[in-house]
Parts: sequence; C-alpha cells; structure tokens
Amino acid sequence: MNVITVASRKGGAGKTTLCAHLAAFAHAKGHKCQIVDGDPQGSLTLCNQLRGDDPLPLATCERGLDRALAMAQVAGIEWVFIDTSPTMWVVVQEAIRSATLVLIPARPGFLDLDAVRATVKTARERNKPYAVVLNACPVKRDEREAPTVAQSRAFLEREGVPVFAGQISHRAAFTFTLAAGASAGESEPASLAAAEIEKLWLAVERSVAAINNAYADAAAIASLTQGQAA
Ligand SMILES: Nc1ncnc2c1ncn2[C@@H]1O[C@H](COP(=O)(O)OP(=O)(O)OP(=O)(O)O)[C@@H](O)[C@H]1O
Ligand SMILES: [Mg+2]
Repeated sequence: MNVITVASRKGGAGKTTLCAHLAAFAHAKGHKCQIVDGDPQGSLTLCNQLRGDDPLPLATCERGLDRALAMAQVAGIEWVFIDTSPTMWVVVQEAIRSATLVLIPARPGFLDLDAVRATVKTARERNKPYAVVLNACPVKRDEREAPTVAQSRAFLEREGVPVFAGQISHRAAFTFTLAAGASAGESEPASLAAAEIEKLWLAVERSVAAINNAYADAAAIASLTQGQAA
C-alpha cells in the first residue's frame, strides 16, 4: 500500500486541493484509493461529500492514523492520500512518518518557501522521500515558467530540496470542479488543469515505483548478506 501525505505548515498552500484532485484522478484511473482527512477543518471531507454518488472511501484520524491505515491495508487499498492541517502537530508528524512519499505544496514566493523548511526537516529526520509541488503558479507563457516560479524552483534546488518538474497553475477549474463534486481530471479531462494533475500523478507513480524498488533492493541485499553470515 502506497501512502501519499500532503503536508505544509503554511495555510492555504493547496494541500486539500492537490490531495482531492490527485486522489480523484487515481480513483478515475481504476486504482483502489482511500482518502484520509487529517485536518480538523474537514475540507477534504467536504470535497468528498460533494462527490454525491461517487465518494472515495474516507477515514479521519479521530481514532488514530495507524488504525485508519491498518483498516485500509485490510481492505486492499492500493493508494492512500492523507490531507493534513497547516501545523506540525502530532497527527502531521504521524502522517509524515507513515508516508511512502510526502508532497509539500508551496505557492511561489518567500513566505511559502520559508514554511517548506519545517516539513522538509521532519521528512528528512524520518528518512522519508519528499518533493515540493509548486502550486497556484502564474500560467506559463510560450511554455516558459513565470519568473517567480523559476526563481522559487532555483531557490529550492539550491537548498537541495527536490521539486516536481512541472507546475500546478492558478486555475479557477481547480476550485470549481471540486465545488461541483468532481475533479479536473473527471469533469474536464481535456483541460489544462487535468493535464497538470495527470503530469503530477505520473510523477508520483514513477517516484513511488522507484522508492518501492529501492526498498526491495535493500531487503534483497539484507537477506543476501544475512545468508552469507549464516
Ligand atoms: N492551483 C490552484 N488554483 C486556484 N486556486 C487554488 C489552487 N490551489 C488552491 N487554490 C485555492 O486556494 C485556497 C486554499 O487552498 P487549499 O484549501 O487547498 O489549501 P490548504 O493548504 O489545504 O489550506 P489549509 O492550510 O487551510 O488546509 C482554496 O480556496 C483553493 O480553492
Ligand atoms: Mg486544507
């Protein structure tokens, strides 16, 4: 089971928006998905309620994240998407600890970039793979990133922080599709918003495959060396 934790202590960075769109995209692709609303604000829960007849399986952390994840595992869930609150409280720490991959949304600009540090520090301390996703960016012109996006990316790369190669632009579609009970990928599959989410999803899938392969290689080497020692 793969666990994607979306975290940033900066309010309004786009955690819930990215979590809802990614989960719905994976769900529409036929993956068995579970969403976990780790934020008492309940925004992801609201997005899911608005989906009417096609909600995703939803859990909260009221009875503990470990319990929610154990139940997802038993139910044969393939992908779990955890939305978190704009804090570094214990539930956020647990969500990072449980992650296969931590996604850190950040709007371009120094306030969001500064807030990234706390989440990066926690992910590094727990040895968790992570990447920043630049969100609500000015749209590209002639395929070129806006200066603020390019500067933000360069800053993060100088700091040694992995950054998603694409961008999620500031598009009304990211908000109004969720409000209408769907995601960009579902209600407007040919839209630029859907294309951006698809690119992010493909990057997540690729990264998680590489992470899982690395763990499998490490386990194989460990069993090999144990075998040698015996
Ligand atoms: N790419 C985007 N384009 C347009 N609007 C966006 C985008 N990303 C987020 N928003 C809007 O910005 C606001 C904050 O987004 P969101 O609620 O996803 O952030 P958050 O990090 O979950 O916030 P909180 O920290 O309060 O949980 C919302 O109104 C959302 O619709
Ligand atoms: Mg939120």
